Amino acid sequence: MISFKINDQEVEAREGWTVLETAKEYGIRIPTLCYHEAVSTSGACRLCVVEVKEGNWSKVVISCMYPVREGLNVFTDSERVKNVRRWILEMLLAQCPASGEIKKLAAEYGVTATRFGLKNKEEECLLCGLCVKVCREVVGVSAITTIGRGVHKTIGAPYGKPAEACVACGSCVTVCPTGAMRTRLDRVRGGDHHKPLAAPHV
Ligand code: SF4
Ligand code: FES
Repeated sequence: MISFKINDQEVEAREGWTVLETAKEYGIRIPTLCYHEAVSTSGACRLCVVEVKEGNWSKVVISCMYPVREGLNVFTDSERVKNVRRWILEMLLAQCPASGEIKKLAAEYGVTATRFGLKNKEEECLLCGLCVKVCREVVGVSAITTIGRGVHKTIGAPYGKPAEACVACGSCVTVCPTGAMRTRLDRVRGGDHHKPLAAPHV
């Protein structure tokens, strides 16, 4: 076991655990958007930042990808962390201004406006890739993919055609942190309203 501290509280983690996994084990809340224990980690949203202190240095890191080490002291809610998190939430508000979930989360940190230019007023998706990964890694059908590059990148069915592979399990809707997949699923399935969603299983 590896011993270190979170918010000055002694904690123990198994070899290979991340700071986020350890915090979850101890019921310490760190906000996340692109993390889900059922799929591989991408570090796409950066909202899970924490401050790590060791000896006389400290830095802000992404907790879902940061492996624990003996002797660390991690702060999940320091002033530095809150500032970085507010900055990230402003970026997310610009990226997906139509997402009620993102607005609600931002408001928790007192962020109600953004200094960044809005990408698209109707956009809800933050391109976290959770829907793509759950479809590929858990359901095993790859009915959803990222399409295009850079500012044109979006989420949809492969080649922009109705995804025959979609089994309508609803897992993508369940894991989506912004609500974007609720309105996208019909597009992925080709507007097949006769194929009901099965109970989500993630
Ligand atoms: S639709 Fe949802 S889960 Fe998929 S990339 Fe966008 S925000 Fe993430
Ligand atoms: S939850 Fe860690 S980067 Fe998104």
